Amino acid sequence: MPGLIPENLLEDILSRVDIVEVISGYIPLKKSGRNFKANCPFHHEKTASFMVSAERQIYHCFGCGESGNAFKFLMRHERMEFPEAVEVLAKKTGVILPEQNKPEAARAASLSSQLHKVNELAVSFYENNLHVPGAASACNYLLSRGIKLQTIKEFHLGLATSNWDSLINCLRSKNVPLSLMEQAGLVLPKDAGGFYDRFRNRIIFPIFDIRSRVIGFGARVMDNTLPKYINSPETPIYTKGRNLFGLNLSKDFIRDADCAIIVEGYLDFMVPYQEGVKNIVASQGTALTLEQIKLLKRYTHNVVMIYDGDTAGEIATLRSLDILIEEGVNVKVVPLPKGMDPDSLVRNQGVENFKAKIDNASSLFDYKLNILKGRYDMKDAHGKSKIASEMLLTINKFDNAILRGEYIKKLAEEIKTSEHYVLEELHKLKSPVPARQAAPEISARNKPQINPAEKLLIKFMLEEKELIAKVMQELSPSDFQDSRTAKIVSLMHDLVIQGKNIEPSVLMNYFSEDDANQLVCETMFMPDLLDQEKEKAINDCIARIKVERLKSRRQHLHVQIKNAQSSGDELKLNRLIQEFHNLIKKGD
Ligand code: GTP
Ligand code: MN
Repeated sequence: MPGLIPENLLEDILSRVDIVEVISGYIPLKKSGRNFKANCPFHHEKTASFMVSAERQIYHCFGCGESGNAFKFLMRHERMEFPEAVEVLAKKTGVILPEQNKPEAARAASLSSQLHKVNELAVSFYENNLHVPGAASACNYLLSRGIKLQTIKEFHLGLATSNWDSLINCLRSKNVPLSLMEQAGLVLPKDAGGFYDRFRNRIIFPIFDIRSRVIGFGARVMDNTLPKYINSPETPIYTKGRNLFGLNLSKDFIRDADCAIIVEGYLDFMVPYQEGVKNIVASQGTALTLEQIKLLKRYTHNVVMIYDGDTAGEIATLRSLDILIEEGVNVKVVPLPKGMDPDSLVRNQGVENFKAKIDNASSLFDYKLNILKGRYDMKDAHGKSKIASEMLLTINKFDNAILRGEYIKKLAEEIKTSEHYVLEELHKLKSPVPARQAAPEISARNKPQINPAEKLLIKFMLEEKELIAKVMQELSPSDFQDSRTAKIVSLMHDLVIQGKNIEPSVLMNYFSEDDANQLVCETMFMPDLLDQEKEKAINDCIARIKVERLKSRRQHLHVQIKNAQSSGDELKLNRLIQEFHNLIKKGD
Protein backbone atom coordinates (compact mmCIF):
# COMPACT_ATOMS: atom_id res chain seq x y z
CA MET A 1 0.00 0.00 0.00
CA PRO A 2 1.66 3.21 -1.08
CA GLY A 3 1.22 4.79 2.36
CA LEU A 4 0.64 8.45 3.05
CA ILE A 5 -2.68 8.96 1.29
CA PRO A 6 -5.69 7.42 3.07
CA GLU A 7 -7.22 4.59 1.09
CA ASN A 8 -10.74 5.96 1.34
CA LEU A 9 -9.60 9.06 -0.53
CA LEU A 10 -8.00 6.92 -3.22
CA GLU A 11 -11.26 5.03 -3.56
CA ASP A 12 -13.16 8.28 -3.62
CA ILE A 13 -11.05 9.55 -6.49
CA LEU A 14 -11.32 6.26 -8.37
CA SER A 15 -15.09 6.22 -7.99
CA ARG A 16 -15.40 9.69 -9.50
CA VAL A 17 -12.81 9.52 -12.23
CA ASP A 18 -13.57 8.17 -15.70
CA ILE A 19 -10.60 6.18 -16.95
CA VAL A 20 -11.92 6.36 -20.51
CA GLU A 21 -11.82 10.14 -20.38
CA VAL A 22 -8.35 10.13 -18.80
CA ILE A 23 -6.83 7.76 -21.34
CA SER A 24 -8.54 9.30 -24.35
CA GLY A 25 -6.82 12.54 -23.40
CA TYR A 26 -3.63 10.86 -24.60
CA ILE A 27 -4.58 8.26 -27.18
CA PRO A 28 -7.65 7.81 -29.38
CA LEU A 29 -9.95 5.08 -28.02
CA LYS A 30 -12.43 3.17 -30.16
CA LYS A 31 -15.56 1.54 -28.81
CA SER A 32 -15.36 -2.22 -28.98
CA GLY A 33 -18.32 -4.06 -27.49
CA ARG A 34 -18.55 -3.11 -23.83
CA ASN A 35 -14.97 -1.90 -23.80
CA PHE A 36 -12.70 0.53 -25.61
CA LYS A 37 -9.72 -0.41 -27.73
CA ALA A 38 -6.53 1.25 -28.96
CA ASN A 39 -3.04 0.59 -30.18
CA CYS A 40 -1.04 0.13 -27.02
CA PRO A 41 0.89 3.28 -26.03
CA PHE A 42 3.38 1.16 -24.09
CA HIS A 43 4.69 -1.08 -26.84
CA HIS A 44 4.89 -1.02 -30.58
CA GLU A 45 1.99 -2.69 -32.36
CA LYS A 46 -0.09 -2.49 -35.47
CA THR A 47 -3.29 -4.10 -34.29
CA ALA A 48 -5.04 -2.85 -31.20
CA SER A 49 -4.60 -5.05 -28.14
CA PHE A 50 -4.92 -2.33 -25.52
CA MET A 51 -8.33 -2.55 -23.80
CA VAL A 52 -10.03 -0.11 -21.48
CA SER A 53 -13.05 -1.01 -19.41
CA ALA A 54 -15.34 1.84 -18.38
CA GLU A 55 -17.30 -0.50 -16.18
CA ARG A 56 -14.27 -1.75 -14.28
CA GLN A 57 -12.18 1.41 -14.59
CA ILE A 58 -9.08 -0.50 -15.64
CA TYR A 59 -6.92 -1.01 -18.71
CA HIS A 60 -4.99 -4.02 -19.93
CA CYS A 61 -2.80 -4.72 -22.92
CA PHE A 62 -2.93 -8.27 -24.23
CA GLY A 63 0.27 -7.65 -26.16
CA CYS A 64 2.68 -6.47 -23.49
CA GLY A 65 0.72 -7.10 -20.31
CA GLU A 66 0.79 -3.50 -19.11
CA SER A 67 -2.30 -2.89 -17.00
CA GLY A 68 -3.75 -0.92 -14.15
CA ASN A 69 -6.17 1.77 -13.03
CA ALA A 70 -6.27 5.51 -13.75
CA PHE A 71 -3.41 6.28 -11.31
CA LYS A 72 -1.21 3.67 -12.89
CA PHE A 73 -1.91 4.99 -16.37
CA LEU A 74 -0.68 8.44 -15.44
CA MET A 75 2.34 6.99 -13.65
CA ARG A 76 3.33 4.97 -16.69
CA HIS A 77 2.30 7.30 -19.46
CA GLU A 78 3.26 10.64 -17.90
CA ARG A 79 6.03 9.20 -15.75
CA MET A 80 4.42 10.64 -12.66
CA GLU A 81 5.16 9.49 -9.15
CA PHE A 82 2.19 7.96 -7.34
CA PRO A 83 1.49 11.07 -5.19
CA GLU A 84 1.52 13.24 -8.29
CA ALA A 85 -0.91 11.00 -10.13
CA VAL A 86 -3.18 11.12 -7.08
CA GLU A 87 -2.91 14.87 -6.95
CA VAL A 88 -3.77 15.30 -10.63
CA LEU A 89 -6.83 13.06 -10.42
CA ALA A 90 -7.90 14.53 -7.08
CA LYS A 91 -7.95 17.94 -8.71
CA LYS A 92 -9.84 16.62 -11.71
CA THR A 93 -12.49 14.96 -9.57
CA GLY A 94 -12.73 17.66 -6.92
CA VAL A 95 -11.57 15.41 -4.09
CA ILE A 96 -9.79 17.41 -1.43
CA LEU A 97 -6.59 15.91 -0.07
CA PRO A 98 -5.78 16.58 3.59
CA GLU A 99 -2.99 19.03 4.35
CA GLN A 100 -0.29 16.44 5.01
CA ASN A 101 -1.00 14.83 1.64
CA LYS A 102 -0.67 18.07 -0.24
CA PRO A 103 1.54 17.83 -3.26
CA GLU A 104 4.61 19.46 -1.71
CA ALA A 105 4.67 17.11 1.25
CA ALA A 106 4.11 14.06 -0.90
CA ARG A 107 6.55 15.25 -3.50
CA ALA A 108 9.32 16.00 -1.07
CA ALA A 109 9.33 12.33 -0.25
CA SER A 110 10.33 11.15 -3.69
CA LEU A 111 13.82 11.02 -5.07
CA SER A 112 12.73 12.48 -8.41
CA SER A 113 11.38 15.59 -6.82
CA GLN A 114 14.56 16.04 -4.82
CA LEU A 115 16.57 15.75 -8.00
CA HIS A 116 14.37 18.27 -9.76
CA LYS A 117 14.95 20.62 -6.86
CA VAL A 118 18.74 20.23 -6.97
CA ASN A 119 18.69 20.83 -10.71
CA GLU A 120 16.64 23.98 -10.21
CA LEU A 121 19.22 25.30 -7.77
CA ALA A 122 21.93 24.51 -10.31
CA VAL A 123 20.02 26.37 -13.05
CA SER A 124 19.87 29.50 -10.91
CA PHE A 125 23.53 29.18 -10.04
CA TYR A 126 24.66 28.84 -13.67
CA GLU A 127 22.24 31.55 -14.78
CA ASN A 128 23.65 34.01 -12.26
CA ASN A 129 27.17 33.25 -13.45
CA LEU A 130 26.25 34.44 -16.91
CA HIS A 131 24.88 37.77 -15.78
CA VAL A 132 27.90 39.14 -13.93
CA PRO A 133 30.49 41.51 -15.45
CA GLY A 134 33.17 38.78 -15.49
CA ALA A 135 31.04 36.71 -17.87
CA ALA A 136 31.15 39.21 -20.74
CA SER A 137 33.04 36.83 -23.03
CA ALA A 138 30.50 34.03 -22.50
CA CYS A 139 27.63 36.43 -23.19
CA ASN A 140 29.41 37.69 -26.26
CA TYR A 141 29.89 34.15 -27.47
CA LEU A 142 26.12 33.58 -27.35
CA LEU A 143 25.38 36.94 -28.95
CA SER A 144 27.89 36.14 -31.69
CA ARG A 145 25.96 32.91 -32.30
CA GLY A 146 22.89 35.05 -32.91
CA ILE A 147 21.20 34.26 -29.60
CA LYS A 148 19.40 37.34 -28.31
CA LEU A 149 19.44 38.36 -24.66
CA GLN A 150 15.73 37.67 -24.36
CA THR A 151 16.29 34.13 -25.64
CA ILE A 152 19.16 33.59 -23.21
CA LYS A 153 16.71 34.43 -20.44
CA GLU A 154 13.79 32.47 -21.84
CA PHE A 155 15.90 29.30 -22.04
CA HIS A 156 17.63 29.99 -18.72
CA LEU A 157 21.03 29.61 -20.35
CA GLY A 158 23.94 29.78 -17.94
CA LEU A 159 27.67 29.55 -17.48
CA ALA A 160 29.85 27.04 -15.68
CA THR A 161 33.07 28.85 -14.78
CA SER A 162 36.47 27.21 -14.80
CA ASN A 163 36.39 26.53 -11.04
CA TRP A 164 36.46 22.89 -9.98
CA ASP A 165 34.09 23.23 -7.07
CA SER A 166 31.97 26.36 -7.34
CA LEU A 167 28.70 24.51 -7.92
CA ILE A 168 29.51 22.08 -5.11
CA ASN A 169 30.12 24.97 -2.75
CA CYS A 170 26.95 26.75 -3.75
CA LEU A 171 24.78 23.64 -3.33
CA ARG A 172 26.48 22.73 -0.08
CA SER A 173 25.67 26.16 1.31
CA LYS A 174 22.05 25.31 0.54
CA ASN A 175 22.34 22.02 2.46
CA VAL A 176 22.14 19.76 -0.58
CA PRO A 177 23.80 16.42 0.26
CA LEU A 178 26.68 15.39 -2.01
CA SER A 179 25.00 12.09 -2.77
CA LEU A 180 22.09 13.98 -4.28
CA MET A 181 24.41 16.18 -6.36
CA GLU A 182 26.07 13.02 -7.60
CA GLN A 183 22.76 11.32 -8.42
CA ALA A 184 21.74 14.44 -10.34
CA GLY A 185 24.92 14.00 -12.41
CA LEU A 186 26.20 17.45 -11.44
CA VAL A 187 29.37 16.31 -9.67
CA LEU A 188 31.89 13.51 -10.12
CA PRO A 189 33.99 11.65 -7.53
CA LYS A 190 37.76 12.30 -7.51
CA ASP A 191 40.13 9.36 -7.43
CA ALA A 192 41.74 10.76 -4.33
CA GLY A 193 38.37 11.20 -2.60
CA GLY A 194 36.00 14.15 -2.66
CA PHE A 195 34.07 15.48 -5.63
CA TYR A 196 34.39 18.04 -8.43
CA ASP A 197 31.97 19.90 -10.70
CA ARG A 198 31.14 17.96 -13.87
CA PHE A 199 30.61 21.05 -16.03
CA ARG A 200 33.40 23.64 -16.18
CA ASN A 201 34.16 26.47 -18.52
CA ARG A 202 31.10 25.84 -20.64
CA ILE A 203 27.82 27.44 -21.65
CA ILE A 204 24.99 25.61 -19.89
CA PHE A 205 21.78 24.61 -21.66
CA PRO A 206 19.23 23.36 -19.10
CA ILE A 207 17.09 20.55 -20.45
CA PHE A 208 13.44 20.66 -19.42
CA ASP A 209 10.87 17.90 -19.60
CA ILE A 210 7.42 18.36 -21.04
CA ARG A 211 6.18 19.73 -17.72
CA SER A 212 9.02 22.27 -17.64
CA ARG A 213 10.97 20.56 -14.86
CA VAL A 214 14.77 20.65 -15.24
CA ILE A 215 15.92 17.10 -15.82
CA GLY A 216 19.46 17.57 -17.13
CA PHE A 217 22.00 19.81 -18.80
CA GLY A 218 23.96 20.20 -21.99
CA ALA A 219 27.24 22.08 -21.70
CA ARG A 220 29.08 23.53 -24.71
CA VAL A 221 32.63 24.77 -24.99
CA MET A 222 33.05 28.36 -26.19
CA ASP A 223 35.90 27.53 -28.56
CA ASN A 224 36.53 24.56 -30.77
CA THR A 225 38.07 22.20 -28.26
CA LEU A 226 36.64 18.71 -27.88
CA PRO A 227 34.36 17.33 -26.73
CA LYS A 228 32.07 20.06 -27.98
CA TYR A 229 29.29 19.06 -25.62
CA ILE A 230 29.24 17.36 -22.28
CA ASN A 231 25.74 16.29 -21.35
CA SER A 232 24.21 15.05 -18.12
CA PRO A 233 24.60 11.31 -17.67
CA GLU A 234 21.51 9.12 -17.38
CA THR A 235 19.96 9.80 -13.99
CA PRO A 236 16.74 8.63 -12.34
CA ILE A 237 15.02 11.60 -13.99
CA TYR A 238 16.95 11.93 -17.25
CA THR A 239 17.20 9.58 -20.20
CA LYS A 240 18.31 11.33 -23.34
CA GLY A 241 16.28 9.19 -25.71
CA ARG A 242 13.05 9.82 -23.81
CA ASN A 243 13.11 13.56 -24.08
CA LEU A 244 12.75 16.11 -26.82
CA PHE A 245 14.54 19.38 -26.19
CA GLY A 246 12.18 22.36 -26.26
CA LEU A 247 8.92 20.42 -26.38
CA ASN A 248 7.79 22.09 -23.15
CA LEU A 249 7.82 25.41 -25.03
CA SER A 250 6.68 24.25 -28.43
CA LYS A 251 4.00 21.64 -27.71
CA ASP A 252 1.02 23.98 -28.08
CA PHE A 253 2.43 25.42 -31.30
CA ILE A 254 2.97 21.90 -32.62
CA ARG A 255 -0.60 20.97 -31.82
CA ASP A 256 -1.94 24.13 -33.44
CA ALA A 257 0.17 23.75 -36.57
CA ASP A 258 -0.45 19.98 -36.54
CA CYS A 259 3.16 19.59 -37.55
CA ALA A 260 6.51 19.36 -35.78
CA ILE A 261 9.86 20.40 -37.21
CA ILE A 262 12.59 18.15 -35.86
CA VAL A 263 16.19 19.34 -35.66
CA GLU A 264 19.27 17.92 -33.97
CA GLY A 265 20.96 20.47 -31.74
CA TYR A 266 20.13 22.98 -29.02
CA LEU A 267 21.15 25.89 -31.24
CA ASP A 268 19.29 24.46 -34.21
CA PHE A 269 16.25 24.68 -31.99
CA MET A 270 16.85 28.06 -30.41
CA VAL A 271 17.74 30.14 -33.45
CA PRO A 272 14.66 29.29 -35.56
CA TYR A 273 12.49 29.43 -32.41
CA GLN A 274 13.54 32.97 -31.54
CA GLU A 275 12.90 34.00 -35.14
CA GLY A 276 9.31 32.80 -34.90
CA VAL A 277 9.39 29.15 -35.96
CA LYS A 278 7.77 27.83 -32.82
CA ASN A 279 6.56 24.35 -33.77
CA ILE A 280 10.01 22.83 -33.42
CA VAL A 281 11.84 20.26 -31.24
CA ALA A 282 15.42 18.98 -31.01
CA SER A 283 16.26 15.29 -30.76
CA GLN A 284 19.63 16.12 -29.16
CA GLY A 285 21.88 14.59 -31.69
CA THR A 286 20.55 11.08 -32.13
CA ALA A 287 18.28 9.25 -34.47
CA LEU A 288 14.78 9.62 -33.07
CA THR A 289 13.84 6.95 -30.60
CA LEU A 290 10.50 5.21 -30.38
CA GLU A 291 9.83 6.97 -27.09
CA GLN A 292 10.53 10.40 -28.54
CA ILE A 293 8.17 9.67 -31.40
CA LYS A 294 5.44 8.51 -29.03
CA LEU A 295 5.86 11.70 -27.06
CA LEU A 296 5.50 13.76 -30.21
CA LYS A 297 2.47 11.79 -31.39
CA ARG A 298 0.46 13.25 -28.54
CA TYR A 299 0.57 16.53 -30.42
CA THR A 300 0.80 15.71 -34.10
CA HIS A 301 1.19 12.96 -36.66
CA ASN A 302 3.08 15.15 -39.14
CA VAL A 303 6.77 15.89 -38.95
CA VAL A 304 9.43 17.57 -41.06
CA MET A 305 12.97 16.47 -40.32
CA ILE A 306 15.74 18.95 -40.91
CA TYR A 307 19.04 17.53 -39.75
CA ASP A 308 22.59 18.73 -40.25
CA GLY A 309 24.00 18.48 -43.75
CA ASP A 310 26.62 15.89 -42.90
CA THR A 311 26.89 12.11 -43.00
CA ALA A 312 25.87 11.78 -39.35
CA GLY A 313 22.73 13.83 -40.02
CA GLU A 314 21.92 11.73 -43.07
CA ILE A 315 22.30 8.44 -41.21
CA ALA A 316 20.26 9.70 -38.26
CA THR A 317 17.52 10.86 -40.64
CA LEU A 318 17.38 7.53 -42.46
CA ARG A 319 17.18 5.58 -39.23
CA SER A 320 14.44 7.84 -37.90
CA LEU A 321 12.36 7.54 -41.07
CA ASP A 322 11.65 3.86 -40.60
CA ILE A 323 10.50 4.20 -37.00
CA LEU A 324 8.36 7.21 -37.85
CA ILE A 325 6.63 5.28 -40.60
CA GLU A 326 6.08 2.27 -38.36
CA GLU A 327 4.48 4.59 -35.87
CA GLY A 328 2.14 5.92 -38.55
CA VAL A 329 3.67 9.39 -38.64
CA ASN A 330 3.68 11.31 -41.94
CA VAL A 331 7.22 12.43 -42.50
CA LYS A 332 8.93 14.83 -44.85
CA VAL A 333 12.58 15.76 -45.01
CA VAL A 334 14.57 18.89 -45.80
CA PRO A 335 18.02 17.92 -47.03
CA LEU A 336 20.66 20.54 -46.23
CA PRO A 337 23.83 21.20 -48.22
CA LYS A 338 27.10 19.92 -46.78
CA GLY A 339 28.25 21.85 -43.74
CA MET A 340 24.93 23.60 -43.14
CA ASP A 341 22.59 23.15 -40.18
CA PRO A 342 19.24 24.79 -39.34
CA ASP A 343 20.97 27.34 -37.13
CA SER A 344 23.37 28.51 -39.83
CA LEU A 345 20.63 28.37 -42.46
CA VAL A 346 18.44 30.78 -40.50
CA ARG A 347 21.30 33.09 -39.68
CA ASN A 348 22.85 33.16 -43.13
CA GLN A 349 19.79 33.02 -45.34
CA GLY A 350 17.02 34.34 -43.09
CA VAL A 351 14.06 32.70 -41.46
CA GLU A 352 11.83 33.13 -44.54
CA ASN A 353 14.20 30.94 -46.47
CA PHE A 354 14.06 28.37 -43.68
CA LYS A 355 10.26 28.42 -43.78
CA ALA A 356 10.26 28.04 -47.54
CA LYS A 357 12.46 25.00 -47.28
CA ILE A 358 10.07 23.49 -44.73
CA ASP A 359 7.13 24.15 -47.05
CA ASN A 360 8.94 22.47 -49.92
CA ALA A 361 10.22 19.50 -47.94
CA SER A 362 10.82 16.30 -49.92
CA SER A 363 8.75 13.21 -49.44
CA LEU A 364 10.62 10.56 -47.54
CA PHE A 365 10.60 8.46 -50.71
CA ASP A 366 12.40 11.09 -52.76
CA TYR A 367 14.79 11.84 -49.92
CA LYS A 368 15.88 8.26 -49.42
CA LEU A 369 16.01 7.50 -53.11
CA ASN A 370 18.21 10.51 -53.68
CA ILE A 371 20.67 9.38 -51.04
CA LEU A 372 20.74 5.87 -52.48
CA LYS A 373 21.29 7.22 -55.99
CA GLY A 374 24.41 8.88 -54.61
CA ARG A 375 25.60 5.64 -53.08
CA TYR A 376 24.90 3.15 -55.87
CA ASP A 377 25.08 3.22 -59.62
CA MET A 378 21.56 3.36 -61.09
CA LYS A 379 22.75 2.25 -64.49
CA ASP A 380 24.18 -0.97 -63.15
CA ALA A 381 21.86 -3.93 -62.48
CA HIS A 382 23.46 -4.64 -59.12
CA GLY A 383 23.22 -0.98 -58.18
CA LYS A 384 19.52 -1.03 -59.08
CA SER A 385 18.88 -4.10 -56.99
CA LYS A 386 20.69 -2.55 -54.01
CA ILE A 387 18.60 0.59 -54.31
CA ALA A 388 15.43 -1.45 -54.63
CA SER A 389 16.12 -3.62 -51.61
CA GLU A 390 16.95 -0.67 -49.37
CA MET A 391 13.90 1.26 -50.53
CA LEU A 392 11.74 -1.79 -49.96
CA LEU A 393 12.84 -2.04 -46.35
CA THR A 394 11.26 1.36 -45.79
CA ILE A 395 8.24 0.80 -48.04
CA ASN A 396 7.52 -2.42 -46.20
CA LYS A 397 7.09 -0.45 -42.97
CA PHE A 398 3.89 1.17 -44.22
CA ASP A 399 0.88 -0.41 -42.67
CA ASN A 400 -1.36 0.88 -45.42
CA ALA A 401 -1.46 -1.34 -48.50
CA ILE A 402 -2.50 1.47 -50.82
CA LEU A 403 0.49 3.57 -49.79
CA ARG A 404 2.74 0.56 -50.23
CA GLY A 405 1.28 -0.02 -53.67
CA GLU A 406 1.85 3.58 -54.72
CA TYR A 407 5.48 3.52 -53.60
CA ILE A 408 6.13 0.21 -55.30
CA LYS A 409 4.80 1.64 -58.55
CA LYS A 410 7.00 4.69 -58.12
CA LEU A 411 10.06 2.63 -57.27
CA ALA A 412 9.60 0.45 -60.34
CA GLU A 413 9.36 3.56 -62.53
CA GLU A 414 12.44 5.12 -60.94
CA ILE A 415 14.68 2.12 -61.42
CA LYS A 416 13.07 1.28 -64.73
CA THR A 417 11.98 -2.23 -64.01
CA SER A 418 8.70 -4.09 -63.94
CA GLU A 419 6.49 -3.67 -60.89
CA HIS A 420 6.23 -7.43 -60.88
CA TYR A 421 9.90 -7.83 -59.92
CA VAL A 422 9.68 -5.21 -57.22
CA LEU A 423 6.69 -7.00 -55.72
CA GLU A 424 8.53 -10.29 -55.86
CA GLU A 425 11.36 -8.79 -53.84
CA LEU A 426 8.90 -7.25 -51.40
CA HIS A 427 7.30 -10.61 -50.72
CA LYS A 428 10.72 -12.01 -49.83
CA LEU A 429 10.79 -9.55 -46.95
CA LYS A 430 7.53 -10.96 -45.58
CA SER A 431 5.57 -9.03 -43.00
CA PRO A 432 7.76 -7.14 -40.62
CA VAL A 433 7.88 -8.32 -37.02
CA PRO A 434 9.43 -5.45 -35.12
CA ALA A 435 12.01 -6.59 -32.57
CA ARG A 436 10.49 -4.35 -29.95
CA GLN A 437 7.22 -6.21 -30.14
CA ALA A 438 8.87 -9.58 -29.69
CA ALA A 439 10.38 -8.72 -26.32
CA PRO A 440 7.28 -8.52 -24.12
CA GLU A 441 5.81 -11.61 -25.73
CA ILE A 442 8.87 -13.62 -24.86
CA SER A 443 8.87 -12.40 -21.30
CA ALA A 444 5.19 -13.21 -21.01
CA ARG A 445 5.86 -16.70 -22.28
CA ASN A 446 8.64 -17.21 -19.78
CA LYS A 447 6.29 -16.66 -16.90
CA PRO A 448 4.91 -19.88 -15.45
CA GLN A 449 1.47 -20.73 -16.78
CA ILE A 450 -1.40 -20.18 -14.40
CA ASN A 451 -3.96 -22.91 -14.05
CA PRO A 452 -6.98 -21.57 -16.01
CA ALA A 453 -9.30 -22.67 -13.19
CA GLU A 454 -7.48 -20.36 -10.77
CA LYS A 455 -7.72 -17.48 -13.20
CA LEU A 456 -11.39 -18.00 -13.92
CA LEU A 457 -12.29 -18.36 -10.26
CA ILE A 458 -10.55 -15.08 -9.50
CA LYS A 459 -12.61 -13.42 -12.20
CA PHE A 460 -15.82 -14.75 -10.67
CA MET A 461 -14.81 -13.67 -7.19
CA LEU A 462 -13.87 -10.19 -8.37
CA GLU A 463 -17.24 -9.87 -10.05
CA GLU A 464 -19.27 -11.26 -7.18
CA LYS A 465 -18.10 -10.37 -3.73
CA GLU A 466 -20.44 -12.90 -2.05
CA LEU A 467 -18.63 -15.71 -3.77
CA ILE A 468 -15.44 -15.08 -1.82
CA ALA A 469 -16.80 -16.41 1.46
CA LYS A 470 -18.24 -19.43 -0.32
CA VAL A 471 -14.96 -20.25 -2.03
CA MET A 472 -13.03 -19.73 1.18
CA GLN A 473 -15.15 -22.44 2.84
CA GLU A 474 -13.82 -24.91 0.32
CA LEU A 475 -10.33 -23.60 -0.38
CA SER A 476 -7.70 -21.53 1.31
CA PRO A 477 -5.49 -18.96 -0.46
CA SER A 478 -2.53 -21.33 -0.28
CA ASP A 479 -4.45 -23.89 -2.34
CA PHE A 480 -3.90 -21.60 -5.30
CA GLN A 481 -0.67 -22.89 -6.79
CA ASP A 482 0.38 -19.70 -8.51
CA SER A 483 1.90 -17.08 -6.23
CA ARG A 484 0.02 -14.30 -8.02
CA THR A 485 -3.42 -15.88 -7.75
CA ALA A 486 -2.69 -16.85 -4.13
CA LYS A 487 -1.79 -13.24 -3.32
CA ILE A 488 -4.96 -11.88 -4.95
CA VAL A 489 -7.24 -14.38 -3.21
CA SER A 490 -5.64 -13.74 0.14
CA LEU A 491 -6.03 -9.99 -0.24
CA MET A 492 -9.65 -10.25 -1.37
CA HIS A 493 -10.39 -12.50 1.57
CA ASP A 494 -8.82 -10.06 4.05
CA LEU A 495 -10.60 -7.07 2.56
CA VAL A 496 -13.99 -8.75 2.55
CA ILE A 497 -13.58 -9.69 6.21
CA GLN A 498 -12.82 -6.06 6.96
CA GLY A 499 -15.90 -5.03 5.00
CA LYS A 500 -13.85 -3.20 2.40
CA ASN A 501 -14.37 -2.53 -1.27
CA ILE A 502 -12.81 -5.06 -3.64
CA GLU A 503 -13.46 -3.32 -6.96
CA PRO A 504 -10.62 -4.34 -9.29
CA SER A 505 -9.51 -0.72 -9.77
CA VAL A 506 -9.30 -0.28 -5.99
CA LEU A 507 -7.70 -3.66 -5.36
CA MET A 508 -4.65 -2.69 -7.32
CA ASN A 509 -3.82 0.14 -4.96
CA TYR A 510 -2.72 -2.60 -2.59
CA PHE A 511 -0.23 -4.38 -4.81
CA SER A 512 3.22 -2.95 -5.07
CA GLU A 513 4.31 -5.29 -7.86
CA ASP A 514 2.96 -5.43 -11.35
CA ASP A 515 2.21 -9.07 -11.97
CA ALA A 516 -0.73 -9.36 -9.58
CA ASN A 517 -2.25 -6.20 -11.04
CA GLN A 518 -1.78 -7.51 -14.50
CA LEU A 519 -3.62 -10.67 -13.65
CA VAL A 520 -6.54 -8.82 -12.08
CA CYS A 521 -6.93 -6.73 -15.22
CA GLU A 522 -6.48 -9.64 -17.57
CA THR A 523 -9.24 -11.67 -15.90
CA MET A 524 -11.58 -8.71 -16.17
CA PHE A 525 -11.31 -8.80 -19.94
CA MET A 526 -11.93 -12.54 -20.19
CA PRO A 527 -15.23 -13.33 -21.91
CA ASP A 528 -18.27 -13.41 -19.62
CA LEU A 529 -20.33 -16.53 -19.06
CA LEU A 530 -24.10 -16.73 -19.10
CA ASP A 531 -25.63 -16.82 -15.63
CA GLN A 532 -26.86 -20.39 -16.04
CA GLU A 533 -23.38 -21.58 -16.98
CA LYS A 534 -21.71 -19.74 -14.18
CA GLU A 535 -22.66 -21.90 -11.22
CA LYS A 536 -21.37 -25.04 -12.88
CA ALA A 537 -18.20 -23.26 -13.96
CA ILE A 538 -17.53 -22.11 -10.40
CA ASN A 539 -17.96 -25.62 -9.04
CA ASP A 540 -15.75 -27.01 -11.79
CA CYS A 541 -13.04 -24.50 -10.96
CA ILE A 542 -13.15 -25.37 -7.27
CA ALA A 543 -13.03 -29.08 -8.07
CA ARG A 544 -10.15 -28.57 -10.49
CA ILE A 545 -8.14 -26.61 -7.91
CA LYS A 546 -8.80 -29.36 -5.35
CA VAL A 547 -7.46 -31.96 -7.77
CA GLU A 548 -4.32 -29.88 -8.21
CA ARG A 549 -4.05 -29.47 -4.46
CA LEU A 550 -4.26 -33.22 -4.01
CA LYS A 551 -1.67 -33.75 -6.69
CA SER A 552 0.75 -31.34 -5.11
CA ARG A 553 0.20 -32.79 -1.61
CA ARG A 554 0.90 -36.24 -2.97
CA GLN A 555 4.04 -35.06 -4.68
CA HIS A 556 5.13 -33.39 -1.50
CA LEU A 557 4.52 -36.51 0.58
CA HIS A 558 6.27 -38.61 -2.02
CA VAL A 559 9.42 -36.55 -1.63
CA GLN A 560 9.18 -36.67 2.16
CA ILE A 561 8.77 -40.47 2.09
CA LYS A 562 11.83 -40.83 -0.12
CA ASN A 563 13.86 -38.69 2.27
CA ALA A 564 12.68 -40.67 5.29
CA GLN A 565 13.60 -43.91 3.49
CA SER A 566 17.11 -42.79 2.72
CA SER A 567 17.67 -41.45 6.22
CA GLY A 568 16.30 -44.69 7.73
CA ASP A 569 13.82 -42.91 9.98
CA GLU A 570 11.31 -45.79 10.40
CA LEU A 571 8.91 -43.95 12.66
CA LYS A 572 8.60 -40.99 10.36
CA LEU A 573 8.34 -43.25 7.33
CA ASN A 574 5.37 -45.14 8.82
CA ARG A 575 3.59 -41.94 9.70
CA LEU A 576 4.11 -40.55 6.22
CA ILE A 577 2.92 -43.72 4.51
CA GLN A 578 -0.20 -43.69 6.66
CA GLU A 579 -0.79 -40.09 5.67
CA PHE A 580 -0.33 -40.98 2.03
CA HIS A 581 -2.97 -43.74 2.25
CA ASN A 582 -5.42 -41.43 3.97
CA LEU A 583 -4.94 -38.89 1.28
CA ILE A 584 -5.69 -41.36 -1.49
CA LYS A 585 -8.72 -42.78 0.35
CA LYS A 586 -10.20 -39.38 1.02
CA GLY A 587 -9.70 -38.26 -2.55
CA ASP A 588 -10.14 -34.71 -1.31
P1 GTP B 1 26.65 23.99 -32.50
O1 GTP B 1 27.77 23.12 -32.89
O2 GTP B 1 27.12 25.03 -31.58
O3 GTP B 1 25.91 24.52 -33.66
O4 GTP B 1 25.65 23.14 -31.59
P2 GTP B 1 24.37 22.30 -31.95
O5 GTP B 1 23.50 22.36 -30.75
O6 GTP B 1 23.77 22.72 -33.23
O7 GTP B 1 24.94 20.84 -32.02
P3 GTP B 1 25.12 19.80 -33.20
O8 GTP B 1 24.08 19.98 -34.25
O9 GTP B 1 26.55 19.78 -33.62
O10 GTP B 1 24.85 18.47 -32.40
C1 GTP B 1 23.55 18.08 -32.11
C2 GTP B 1 23.44 17.59 -30.70
O11 GTP B 1 24.30 16.48 -30.53
C3 GTP B 1 23.89 18.59 -29.64
O12 GTP B 1 22.88 19.49 -29.28
C4 GTP B 1 24.28 17.66 -28.53
O13 GTP B 1 23.15 17.22 -27.78
C5 GTP B 1 24.86 16.46 -29.26
N1 GTP B 1 26.32 16.57 -29.37
C6 GTP B 1 27.04 17.24 -30.30
N2 GTP B 1 28.36 17.14 -30.07
C7 GTP B 1 28.49 16.38 -28.97
C8 GTP B 1 29.60 15.91 -28.21
O14 GTP B 1 30.76 16.20 -28.49
N3 GTP B 1 29.34 15.12 -27.14
C9 GTP B 1 28.07 14.81 -26.77
N4 GTP B 1 27.89 14.04 -25.69
N5 GTP B 1 26.99 15.23 -27.44
C10 GTP B 1 27.19 16.02 -28.53
MN1 MN C 1 24.78 23.47 -34.99
